[in-house]
Amino acid sequence: MPIEIKDLEYTYSPGTPFEHKALKGVNLTLSTGKVTAIIGQTGSGKSTLVQHLNALLRPTAGTIDIAGFHIDAQTKLTDAKALRKKVGLVFQFPEYQLFEETIAKDIGFGPKNFGYTPEQIEEATRKVLPLVGLDESFLERSPFELSGGQKRRVAIAGILVQDPEVLVLDEPAAGLDPQSADEMMSLFMDLNRTKGKTILLVSHDMEHVLRYCDEVVVMKNGKVSTHMPVHEFFKHPDLLREIDINPPGIVLLKERLMQEGFTIDPDCYSLDELVRQVKAQVNAHE
Ligand SMILES: Nc1ncnc2c1ncn2[C@@H]1O[C@H](COP(=O)(O)OP(=O)(O)OP(=O)(O)O)[C@@H](O)[C@H]1O
Ligand SMILES: [Mg+2]
Repeated sequence: MPIEIKDLEYTYSPGTPFEHKALKGVNLTLSTGKVTAIIGQTGSGKSTLVQHLNALLRPTAGTIDIAGFHIDAQTKLTDAKALRKKVGLVFQFPEYQLFEETIAKDIGFGPKNFGYTPEQIEEATRKVLPLVGLDESFLERSPFELSGGQKRRVAIAGILVQDPEVLVLDEPAAGLDPQSADEMMSLFMDLNRTKGKTILLVSHDMEHVLRYCDEVVVMKNGKVSTHMPVHEFFKHPDLLREIDINPPGIVLLKERLMQEGFTIDPDCYSLDELVRQVKAQVNAHE
């Protein structure tokens, strides 16, 4: 069953001087089992949108159907816990997610809530730590004495340990060094390919979007402006320039080579293949 979002609207602090309409009618169908990037300028509504997927925010208007749950403005959600077991959300700011005295308690919070025994929690925690690049020496430390990147790893561990069907990751690589960011992205891809997890990823990193995602959703001013397969999307770099985001390096290089008169296959996104195509044309000229 796909994830269906229909006419979703959300207004912060309605009826107050701080009232702000952040979502203005979002319509989106997301296939399950895919990795979808949600991109867009700062303030376009990405975080507001993804916080609806596990009912952390409830719609002002419109509906969401996800993992067998129906969310709307009127109906009281009686089984939010069950929804959050299936749809795991990693916040943009890990500080919002970490609040226990120790990392062990923080990672174990969800499983405890879902009724795991202490032994099951311990086993699940020990399994998840190496996946996010942490070791057991962290378990008794306080989350508040960690670096930004370490906090992010703990926040991600706290969601992975619940083994959700849908993983919603709001800028999960922010604050990680480039190599750690790549390792984290590879972990998510592995969860998608080997366990069929549906992954929704908010990202400002177009290299990650091109390398790891199947589809792209562009948010613009509280609405979806574009939804396309990744390789199709990057054939139109102007769609990115419209929202002041720089295209990935390989896309810029392709554009430049075409300006210089080379013929480049629009479906080419690998550097080796690009070099091969250019070399063939140079050789043909000699
Ligand atoms: N708690 C809040 N109260 C009032 N307005 C808010 C609140 N949170 C966000 N907004 C506003 O809603 C709009 C959408 O914010 P949101 O955080 O969803 O953007 P975003 O696309 O995630 O941006 P970024 O890339 O900076 O994370 C912005 O104009 C923002 O100022
Ligand atoms: Mg955000």
